[in-house]
Amino acid sequence: MKKRLPVDTQTFRRIREEGYIYIDKTKEALDLIQDYRFVFLSRPRRFGKSLFLDTLKEIFEGSKELFEGLYIYDKYDFEPHPVIKIDWAGDFKTLESTKEVALAIMESNQERLDISCKHTSNPSVCFKELLEKAYQKYGKEVVILIDEYDKPILDNVEKENLDVAKQNREFLRSFYTIIKSNDAYIRFAFLTGVSRFSRVSIFSGLNNLIDISLNPDFAYICGFLHSNLTNEFKEYTEGIDLEEVRRWYNGYNFLGEEKVYNPYDILLFLKNKQFDNYWFKTATPTFLIKLLKDRGYNTLQFENLEVSSRILDSFDIEDIEVETVMFQAGYLTIKDVKRRAGKTKYILTFPNQEVRTSFNDYILDYIVPNRQLKERIEDTLYDILAEGELDKLKDVLKSLFSSVPYQLFVRKDIRDTESYYSVALYMYLSGAGLQIEIEDTTDRGRIDLTAIVLDKVYIFELKMEGEGNPIQQIKEKRYYEKYLNYPEVYAVGIIIDSKEKTVKDVVWERVK
Ligand SMILES: Nc1ncnc2c1ncn2[C@@H]1O[C@H](COP(=O)(O)OP(=O)(O)OP(=O)(O)O)[C@@H](O)[C@H]1O
Ligand SMILES: [Mg+2]
Repeated sequence: MKKRLPVDTQTFRRIREEGYIYIDKTKEALDLIQDYRFVFLSRPRRFGKSLFLDTLKEIFEGSKELFEGLYIYDKYDFEPHPVIKIDWAGDFKTLESTKEVALAIMESNQERLDISCKHTSNPSVCFKELLEKAYQKYGKEVVILIDEYDKPILDNVEKENLDVAKQNREFLRSFYTIIKSNDAYIRFAFLTGVSRFSRVSIFSGLNNLIDISLNPDFAYICGFLHSNLTNEFKEYTEGIDLEEVRRWYNGYNFLGEEKVYNPYDILLFLKNKQFDNYWFKTATPTFLIKLLKDRGYNTLQFENLEVSSRILDSFDIEDIEVETVMFQAGYLTIKDVKRRAGKTKYILTFPNQEVRTSFNDYILDYIVPNRQLKERIEDTLYDILAEGELDKLKDVLKSLFSSVPYQLFVRKDIRDTESYYSVALYMYLSGAGLQIEIEDTTDRGRIDLTAIVLDKVYIFELKMEGEGNPIQQIKEKRYYEKYLNYPEVYAVGIIIDSKEKTVKDVVWERVK
């Protein structure tokens, strides 16, 4: 019988006892337990944070029998420790409700550890008492595991709730300080969540908390590798085009040698045997749309976005930056790291086809007033390019450009008319689900865009009327040489009448 896919559980015990496939992360767990004491990890949604935390819990509770066959099994003594588990789930819309959730969490820990605290009205005081009593009762240092450490803040980042976000942040800061001031009782503490707040704002006391989020040694602590598909998931992947799977879902880079998959995507894909935006669908980026509104919807910038390390690691509710949210939430990943004069710069991009297509499509839905028209344009564009019927391209491009409100783009990061056309074309091609390659974005006004659909490659060049011959330019730049392994390669020039703001002409030539 096939082993089961753990789509619907993040409980380590169930996975191990009920015949689910488990990708062994106990090497990372052991490394942490042996070399670290206060650890922080951030990963986007559905990356396996809760399952990893639960794995730590079983290790520290001494459930050795669950680990048979796994890396850690014969390398660790599994001596039981009292574990305090804090999972921030609940209603955080007011400071009072946050405190209530905290008290309920303290209560369930008391029950589990068979301890009763005297102080049951102030969560921080109760936390401190629980720690001390657990240490005394079991004669062992305590382990603290915190899931969604940032949820009470993240649930309130929208402008109208910022005051609550700040109050919750203050509350969490004092709550987490208990960890610092009770160092003597603690064996190990692990905090995880989606965001990385600037240290001062929430962990001001916790100087010894080590952030492993971008530590290459822990690059694979969450997520699946391509080799997992052919090993552990072999029974499910036979006959599947794994390179297509890679293009759709791989691509998250946490500075390891290899890129990783989001587990949720892979599990759902293997279950349904159909490409779909499983991960993207689990959350709607409405909050991001609001942020983008203020700076223009140029999604093309996200193909190649240079940021400083500060952008990656500090989420500041007083000054929320689009790049930070895009990266931490998992819509962008690291494409390249550059060191320049002692400073580290990161180049970000969309991780894969799923996110690129879904994100562009989502933004288009938002900015094209007529949604049916948008769908029709995407479908027609896809069909024309899949069939190679380039004579029909001019008409669809005309409706494409007229569907995207020009005013929305004439913002600080769109410098000229030509960029507007590039961005609109790019958004539609990506949104329609084509494979996109951006050859050169050094000059944002003149991107070279390549779209691949099935066995056909299209190299696009946008030109204002009278600015020279686009086909000749494509040939001179020789970008097409990269694609000579495809059966059909086309050079396509789109000539824009900038006065009338419309497509003057589409010229094309098959170069292979
Ligand atoms: N190492 C693994 N082996 C097998 N399945 C895994 C592994 N890691 C994660 N999964 C599966 O991936 C899914 C997502 O995991 P989990 O719920 O732990 O992620 P999360 O990061 O906590 O998500 P969220 O941010 O939504 O809380 C679950 O179905 C889980 O069982
Ligand atoms: Mg979780």
